[in-house]
Amino acid sequence: MSICVGDIKTMAKGQPIRGVYLLSGFEIRSGGQNGRYGSARLSDRSGKIEARIWELPDDPAWLSEMPVVFIEGEYCPYQGVPQVRISRLAAVPDEQLKAGMLSSLVRVSSHDPRVMWGELTGLVESMGDQRVRAFCDRLIFDDEEVCGRLRVWPAAVAFHHDYVGGLLQHTWEMARMADALAKTAPDINRDLLLAMVCMHDIGKIHEIEVDRLGGPAGFSRQGRLLGHIYIGMAMVDRCGRRYDLDPEVGLALQHAILSHHGSREFGSPLPPKIKEAQILHFLDNMSARREIFATELASVRPGTFSPWVKSIQSEIYLPDFPSGDDQ
Ligand SMILES: [Fe+2]
Ligand SMILES: [Fe+2]
Repeated sequence: MSICVGDIKTMAKGQPIRGVYLLSGFEIRSGGQNGRYGSARLSDRSGKIEARIWELPDDPAWLSEMPVVFIEGEYCPYQGVPQVRISRLAAVPDEQLKAGMLSSLVRVSSHDPRVMWGELTGLVESMGDQRVRAFCDRLIFDDEEVCGRLRVWPAAVAFHHDYVGGLLQHTWEMARMADALAKTAPDINRDLLLAMVCMHDIGKIHEIEVDRLGGPAGFSRQGRLLGHIYIGMAMVDRCGRRYDLDPEVGLALQHAILSHHGSREFGSPLPPKIKEAQILHFLDNMSARREIFATELASVRPGTFSPWVKSIQSEIYLPDFPSGDDQ
């Protein structure tokens, strides 16, 4: 049985550790008794922890490929930073990675990806406006690489939907809300809003890098230099030109991507100036905030507050209401 990373951090110094973890960020540094040592991070679905390998294997190149490893060692915090000192290390071959082991190593969406994908594509197929649908099909659903990534990519490196399948879950949640909202407010252009939802974070498939198990590993070079807003706008622009699609629809979609964070403070250079783009911004926030509350409340007892939540600049409270069964 592996000791999960979250529990390691609460251990006393010197406690023995053994288990299976994803190893990432490996680099060789100079120092220590042997003149060089390995620095890396160990992770599982509960978190990440720094690790040091004082006795490197003869050929350590494989450690750079983010392997899943079996380790033995001890908990050795250094200058207040939680750290594991690894004394024994072996690769776990892909064929030995059982499904159960994978889900303990990486966080995945709690919703069935086939159901989410089926509902999302069903909503796109129900569009009546072919000019709008053409953008969805050409940019996303006819493109194997884009589809393949949208199905499994995380929506973020941290804060919300930052797990395997997070981008699909975030997009699916918003698409369902958009569909429901359009039923109550007929002045909303449903097809345009749905297309904006599908596309608003599509640039994240190039902005975020994933580790070999599909979890978020950080931002790509393109992501760090351009960001998902620019990347997504460029994808729409390229697609519109390549397939000679309706320029007015393309402009509205690009504006929605540009403005979906709502204000300069949050990374959008212009505020939403199209009704559906304004609604998109609220749907985006709704999905993100719901997820942040749900994640925080998972470790809060009824009738108590959470610790300070940085992303919403507040603590949050779980009311002590009777559950449905008790009523
Ligand atoms: Fe975004
Ligand atoms: Fe989003």
